[in-house]
Amino acid sequence: MEEPSRVFLEVGPGRTLSTLAGMCQAELRKQGNEETFNQLIVPSLRHPDVDQDDTVFLLNTLGRLWMAGVEVDWNKFYENEKRRRIPLPTYPFERQRYWVERQVDVDSQTPSKSIILTKKPDISDWFYVPVWKQSILSEKSSDKEVQDNSCWLVFVDQSEFGKRLIKQLKDDNQNVVTVTAGSEFSRSKNHTFILDPTNREDYENLLKDLAVQGLVPDKILHLWGVTSMNNKPDKFKLLNETQNLGFYSLLYLAQAFGNQNMTDPVNLLVITNGMQNVLGEGVYFPEKATILGPCRVIPKEYSNVSCRSVDIQISELDSPGTDWLIKQIIQEASVNSTDEIVAYRNQFRWVQTWQTVHLNKKEDIPQRLRNNGVYLITGGLGGIGLSLAEYLAETVSAKLVLTARSSLPAKKEWEDWLNTHDDTDRTSERIRKIKKLEELGAEVMIVQADITNYEQMKKAVEQVQERYGTIHGVIHAAGIAGGGAIQLKSSQTASEVLAPKVIGTSVLTSLLDMNKLDFFMLCSSITSILGDFGQSDYCAANAFLDAFAQYNGFKNQPFIFAINWDAWGDVGMAVNTEVPKDILEQRLASLKEGILSSEGVEAFARVLDSNHHQVVVSTRDWLKRIEMTKAVLESRDGKSTYKTAATRFVKSAHSRPKLETEYVAPENEIEVSLAEIWQELFGIDKVGVHDNFFELGGHSLLATGVITRIRDTFQVEINLQSFFDKPTIAELSEIILEKLVEQEDSETLNQILAEIENESQE
Ligand SMILES: NC(=O)c1ccc[n+]([C@@H]2O[C@H](COP(=O)([O-])OP(=O)(O)OC[C@H]3O[C@@H](n4cnc5c(N)ncnc54)[C@H](OP(=O)(O)O)[C@@H]3O)[C@@H](O)[C@H]2O)c1
Repeated sequence: MEEPSRVFLEVGPGRTLSTLAGMCQAELRKQGNEETFNQLIVPSLRHPDVDQDDTVFLLNTLGRLWMAGVEVDWNKFYENEKRRRIPLPTYPFERQRYWVERQVDVDSQTPSKSIILTKKPDISDWFYVPVWKQSILSEKSSDKEVQDNSCWLVFVDQSEFGKRLIKQLKDDNQNVVTVTAGSEFSRSKNHTFILDPTNREDYENLLKDLAVQGLVPDKILHLWGVTSMNNKPDKFKLLNETQNLGFYSLLYLAQAFGNQNMTDPVNLLVITNGMQNVLGEGVYFPEKATILGPCRVIPKEYSNVSCRSVDIQISELDSPGTDWLIKQIIQEASVNSTDEIVAYRNQFRWVQTWQTVHLNKKEDIPQRLRNNGVYLITGGLGGIGLSLAEYLAETVSAKLVLTARSSLPAKKEWEDWLNTHDDTDRTSERIRKIKKLEELGAEVMIVQADITNYEQMKKAVEQVQERYGTIHGVIHAAGIAGGGAIQLKSSQTASEVLAPKVIGTSVLTSLLDMNKLDFFMLCSSITSILGDFGQSDYCAANAFLDAFAQYNGFKNQPFIFAINWDAWGDVGMAVNTEVPKDILEQRLASLKEGILSSEGVEAFARVLDSNHHQVVVSTRDWLKRIEMTKAVLESRDGKSTYKTAATRFVKSAHSRPKLETEYVAPENEIEVSLAEIWQELFGIDKVGVHDNFFELGGHSLLATGVITRIRDTFQVEINLQSFFDKPTIAELSEIILEKLVEQEDSETLNQILAEIENESQE
């Protein structure tokens, strides 16, 4: 007992000895140092009167001994235990429900807009073709003819059309600022600017300069897509120039809106010529069609900007119709309209719409296919490429040339590979599919080449010709998925998405004898028409393919056709592309309605056997989908309550996740309202004013939802960039406050000016 480190363990039931030892300890303490006689005394078995589980009691004792430094022989302790493995989840249990509840309160007064569309059972009902219908520019009573106080920003070249348009605007007493493309940014006194179309900063300098001069444009005419029909320079040079003056120019302009915090309403008209096939004249400049990407997507990402593509006929310039056309263009820019795609031909206004075509199943194989035909499939190792290859193997025992950037192991290593890799391994899947093609009777040649690289493709085509002779058909399925809001998009990422489709098509058509082909098929997407949020580059790339299918530049026109595919549900990029977690549910639901590969090949066969150059394959009612997209744009003026995916809020509340920032409750009215919006959006019960939007799981699509709610609540416009710069409630509420004060000031100022005017009249 005199040793302070001693531990006493009572062996046997009850605690009689422990009590005795405790009493001795107390006695010794009285006589000497208290700390010395404070050793641990523990019983090992419970007293019969103690109502406790024996094991628990024993474990407690063991625990206390271990804490006192006693070495426990754990192996002995567990000697008689029987072990069994049970799988554990790879993350700690957090008993928190994060189920996204389905929204039920979509405006009941607009039932057509809240329809949930489902997959149509009969493939024959999936096909739609573009048609043009005459239309009169609707003049709503709220739209003034040409407002006196408008400021027009005109991107113009030296063409006669541009000059006459500007003259007309000046005759109408409008403020006109002109911008021409040059090598560097400069400004002359009379509202004329030059900028380098490839320099993003120049667009910002332009808007900055205009803001300083009080010339913030509310109407923008973009005429850089109007070109002479006569001189067609070198194909590749034209391709680059056209993208710089078209796609990138609009991309940079939109980014400048964001960076300069331009939030007042702007009507942007993108004018081109020779880009649409309205009356069967064909498309002269398919490379211009990439502007449709930003044109369709800008209004979805910048809620204050309306955008319309207007394609005109330049031959009309010297005709009496020119004055009419110029006035019409000015009128177009002056009225609100949800017509996204407009064309002027022969003094009529046309808009693009869609018509259902029933392509029925045929028992025979498509007439454009030949037995043992040679077919080149770019992106041939991708989901759609391999599915179509299988169809060609099955139906015509084709000679298949599959090209891709990635390669497969040498054939002699295939068995080894399959034996040493998982079934889900990408390469194993591809090897198995190619083996199947061969079993079906096809000859398969795999060529590694980047479709955007002329030299690599030249070599590839030569190899094919050497082995098989003539190529009979091409399926251009190479492509990569796009994604990302315009405000954050670099020209590099956009060009990577454009390249396989735009440059790739161009490379193919320069290397192949197009006139000898039975068909040239382009894998486009419905995104080129729906222009979804974050898809400006992918929309542009596919819009190019749509236009190329109507190109009139080949002598003996081969059958070129584009299929605007809906999402494929079991293979391909829609299945493999990662999406943000919170829209994953939505993506999976949409894939369920998607095209199965067996259905996709059937659709391909039917379109191949038709004479349509562009066909949308949509499993759900396409006309309603278009209507719903338009409804989203209409809702921006607050007249409709249709809610986009971005503004559909969940009602269920979960507790605030663990964040780095401490919770600080909102204080003022703006902060409280913003917190309510965020809480609804994320479905969490409280959001602190310093919580970061992105740490809470926000992304650009959700940010636009919040922007819409801010506009509805405070009548102020916040742009997407502000969200990225100031992603907390405290910071955003300051911006909102500043804007409210500005508005108040200008209202007061207007009132004072009105009073002064009244007084001077009296
Ligand atoms: N799947 C869908 O739901 C869907 C819907 C609408 C439209 N589409 C379009 O249909 C086409 C095929 O789609 P998918 O689902 O089969 O896509 P996927 O599985 O991702 O296959 C695309 C293929 O393109 C190849 N590729 C990409 N860039 C290339 C380049 N520069 N040079 C050569 N090959 C290149 C890729 O191979 P490497 O990376 O090895 O080069 C890949 O094998 C795409 O153009 C896509 O835009 C697909």
